Amino acid sequence: MTLLDELHAEHDVIEQVAGAFLTYAASPAAVRSRDEGAAFLRFFRMYAGQFHHAREEDTLFVALRDRAGLPANRGPIATLIADHERMAGLIAGLASCLDGRADAGERLQEFATAYVHALWHHIDAENSVLFPECEPRLRRNGVTQLPSRPMTADERQALSEGQALVARYPPPANPDVMRGDGCIMCPAFGVTCRGLELEWWNEWEWDEFDDRMSGA
Ligand SMILES: [Fe+2]
Ligand SMILES: [Fe+2]
Repeated sequence: MTLLDELHAEHDVIEQVAGAFLTYAASPAAVRSRDEGAAFLRFFRMYAGQFHHAREEDTLFVALRDRAGLPANRGPIATLIADHERMAGLIAGLASCLDGRADAGERLQEFATAYVHALWHHIDAENSVLFPECEPRLRRNGVTQLPSRPMTADERQALSEGQALVARYPPPANPDVMRGDGCIMCPAFGVTCRGLELEWWNEWEWDEFDDRMSGA
């Protein structure tokens, strides 16, 4: 499904620029410029937020709710939307560290780490659980394609600035955060989401599971 392929590819770019932002935030104030800080913010707001997260919310999640009958007020969809909102709030905090009035030093690193780690966990959850699970569920309900849209000129510019920043601030090779696939690695598991099986499985999926476990 083209939209899913696009979203997946966008994750790769967002993940890299997020890593570059950690390197930027950890760099001495004399090395990193405020213009670069503003370019990172534009990337996160326009490319990660306005382009990427928005298409997830207004196209993919809507289709999962309306066409595949999945709940949007709890479970994975509600958790992922809450993540988007929380990350937008963290960007507002980042902006206050990068607004040019004073160098925020440690505060910048703190906000950058919180934002980037939240973004990486979010990407891991979408790549390893949401995307593989939603395609067959949509297909079973007759949805084989979802609409997408091209980037606006501003979004394209934000993307190319972000890519240039990855070259200037290479992401850390061994970031100090545990990452991985599946519900069990998701910080929302057991907090705002009970896991895929309890949230999304229907009766026949449970029946099939019971049959498999009993060797039938
Ligand atoms: Fe997302
Ligand atoms: Fe995403």
